[in-house]
Amino acid sequence: MKAIVYTEYGTPDVLRLKEVVKPAPKENEVLVKVHATSVNAADWHLLTADIFMVRLNMGLLKPKNTILGSDIAGRVEAVGRDVKQFKPGDAVFGDVFGHNFGGFAEYVAAAESDLALKPANLSFDEAAAVPLAAKTALQGLRDLGHIQSGQKVLINGASGGVGTFAVQVAKYYGAEVTAVCSTRNLDMARRLGANHVIDYTKEDFTQNGQPYDLIFAVNGYHPISAYRRALTPKGIYVMVGGTITQLFQALLLGPLMSKKDGQQLGALTLKPNPKDLPLLKELLETGKVVPVIDKRYTFSEVPDALRYFGEGHARGKVGITVSVDSPA
Ligand SMILES: NC(=O)c1ccc[n+]([C@@H]2O[C@H](COP(=O)([O-])OP(=O)(O)OC[C@H]3O[C@@H](n4cnc5c(N)ncnc54)[C@H](OP(=O)(O)O)[C@@H]3O)[C@@H](O)[C@H]2O)c1
Repeated sequence: MKAIVYTEYGTPDVLRLKEVVKPAPKENEVLVKVHATSVNAADWHLLTADIFMVRLNMGLLKPKNTILGSDIAGRVEAVGRDVKQFKPGDAVFGDVFGHNFGGFAEYVAAAESDLALKPANLSFDEAAAVPLAAKTALQGLRDLGHIQSGQKVLINGASGGVGTFAVQVAKYYGAEVTAVCSTRNLDMARRLGANHVIDYTKEDFTQNGQPYDLIFAVNGYHPISAYRRALTPKGIYVMVGGTITQLFQALLLGPLMSKKDGQQLGALTLKPNPKDLPLLKELLETGKVVPVIDKRYTFSEVPDALRYFGEGHARGKVGITVSVDSPA
């Protein structure tokens, strides 16, 4: 099969389209013929090793796993003997983030628990834009943020892959949502359901005296003390992405600044939860959540897709069409 392979850390220039061995599914795995995939920050970090932790976990000098790509949508080609939920021909979507990646390929072996049936109303391209970013939004708001109906929730970095889902998921939970993004994305944030928008190029929300019950920080930098100032007395700050400084502040200072029965400040680590994709499927099928896709690339253009993502201003997700569906 064909795959986009990298054997050294670096820029998207190190990615090569190559012929590699097609994976065989283990007992609990599903072999998926990939029709579409999409780019996530995780792909960027694993490609560039811009965070030192990447080298510690994924190979000090060169990557142990040579195929990036987490989000996938496609058709089941074959199943391992313990797989119960899927059969060949099923249209599925999911992410292989916790399963050594490998989505930038014509076929990938995914754990059964990492997949769900594709939402009926979505194309493969649309479905592949969802899993990792939407699960991040869901887990950050629901599990770490303990989001409640009627709360004032602020999404900092509302216009990227995770942010566009976060606005919609927060609305689903009944929150009053403030979306922070740049001027050109304000209208999109309103269309996604944001009750209020703040243009970060003109206003610093940490200085406006408006406290929030929950701050979901996906992009952009503010010191943790500024986030704390913008929280209500029992408000929660969930650090999802941003600068390394922001991550270390959330990991090291967050627990020290958190108070029992008071403000809570911490960082999200995405965890496998087999219940997330079925819930997202329902939200997508009922139109409560809609994927936003900025640009789509062909399979051989994966390096260009990553270059565009790496500029840091994608509006929603960056998609990749791997192959056109031809059901048996
Ligand atoms: N903790 C976890 O488990 C986890 C899981 C997934 C992702 N993440 C992290 O989440 C982060 C976001 O991922 P993503 O896929 O959403 O990235 P993304 O799609 O690349 O985000 C791009 C968006 O960031 C916005 N942005 C850039 N600078 C900004 C600023 N100063 N203030 C506000 N918005 C700004 C851009 O909006 P404008 O063009 O309007 O500037 C653009 O729409 C990454 O750092 C990633 O590592 C963490």
